[in-house]
Amino acid sequence: MSAGFYFAEMLKFYFISFSFWMMAAVEFVEDLCTPALIVDLDKVRRNAEGMLERFHKLGVQLRPHMKTHKTLECADIMTGGSRRCIVVSTLAEASFYADNGYDDILYAYPLPFDKVERCAELSERLSLFHVLVDNRLALQELKKRPLKQGKVWKVWMKLDCDNGRAGVPHYDPDALQLAQEISDTSGVELTGIYAHCGNTYACQGEEQIKAVAQETTMITLQFMEKLKAAGIHGTKSSIGSTPSCSHPVPDMAMLSEVHPGNYIFYDVQQSLIGSCRLEDVAVRVLARVIGHYPHRNQLLVDCGWAALSHDGGGRLPTGYAIIEGHPELKLLSMTQEHGRVEPISGKLDFKQFPLGSLLTLMPYHACASAMMHPVYFVHSKGKIIDTWKPTRGW
Ligand SMILES: Cc1ncc(COP(=O)(O)O)c(C=O)c1O
Repeated sequence: MSAGFYFAEMLKFYFISFSFWMMAAVEFVEDLCTPALIVDLDKVRRNAEGMLERFHKLGVQLRPHMKTHKTLECADIMTGGSRRCIVVSTLAEASFYADNGYDDILYAYPLPFDKVERCAELSERLSLFHVLVDNRLALQELKKRPLKQGKVWKVWMKLDCDNGRAGVPHYDPDALQLAQEISDTSGVELTGIYAHCGNTYACQGEEQIKAVAQETTMITLQFMEKLKAAGIHGTKSSIGSTPSCSHPVPDMAMLSEVHPGNYIFYDVQQSLIGSCRLEDVAVRVLARVIGHYPHRNQLLVDCGWAALSHDGGGRLPTGYAIIEGHPELKLLSMTQEHGRVEPISGKLDFKQFPLGSLLTLMPYHACASAMMHPVYFVHSKGKIIDTWKPTRGW
């Protein structure tokens, strides 16, 4: 084929791409096709700056978690542009960030044995890649795969400080023993102790959050003292969740790091816990009215669990979300692509919600709602200024 043909094909390709972009380019959030996830950039920046400043003042390294958004743009904002010192929950996130110039990545998930080789490759490629273990078999797996180039596995041991998910229980004598074994293993370094205070999610209000933050901090610091008494020095300590890091206690200054993540978006759940105000919530799911059913006193919207998630179980007085500007409405139930909306009491005024009109849903759990979307529409005061594409998978 001739060069002229290629040139014509290229022109056609660029023309089609440009036309598609022009059609897709939407200026304001209210013109988006729904359902759509929108992100308020001004709030994101404010939430990020608040957290960076809080821990800068305390003299503690912030290692933000990426699981809520999984995008490069948001990671840049959370790290203050350093592109260093992040936590991820999947290896897909780890590779995505590594491929895009990030380093010092902590994969804070109990080491999955099927992924040891991929972890080894990341450890050999990056200047710092950390894994997390809470059992001896995981340590054996690391020993079976020595790192090349004279590198050692950077291992954080997960300590369960009464959160009751992963980790060796802090009161179990085996916790110290496992830490000792990690430290004594050649080719492996005990880099840190990691505790996630997810039990702050059962709190209500700042006082309760601070009590859990204090308890987790003290348990972790006591464990660090035990390590020193056993001759293990230079090990880092890290705790954190969005509630505890939104209201840190002064003793957290004695930790090396904290690792919150959800604060970048916040959500209705965090406002109920007391981590933030409702006005700090930076994400919304936009939906449109697609049906009127006066015989049931209900509206139908084009937002099912595939756009919002079922997280929260509909436990809010307003159901699965808060419908902004309409405290009288409840998102009663969802199927995959449909949502049923009805008034909390009384008769629905259907004229207020014509077919095609927009409803703005404030999600109960931002991490879960964001997971449902392949693209986020980023706006400032309603004007769309960017689109962010998250990474997906494991
Ligand atoms: C292991 C781990 N570390 C840190 C975080 C961040 O906590 P949050 O979502 O409360 O910001 C999470 C969240 O689930 C987590 O699972």
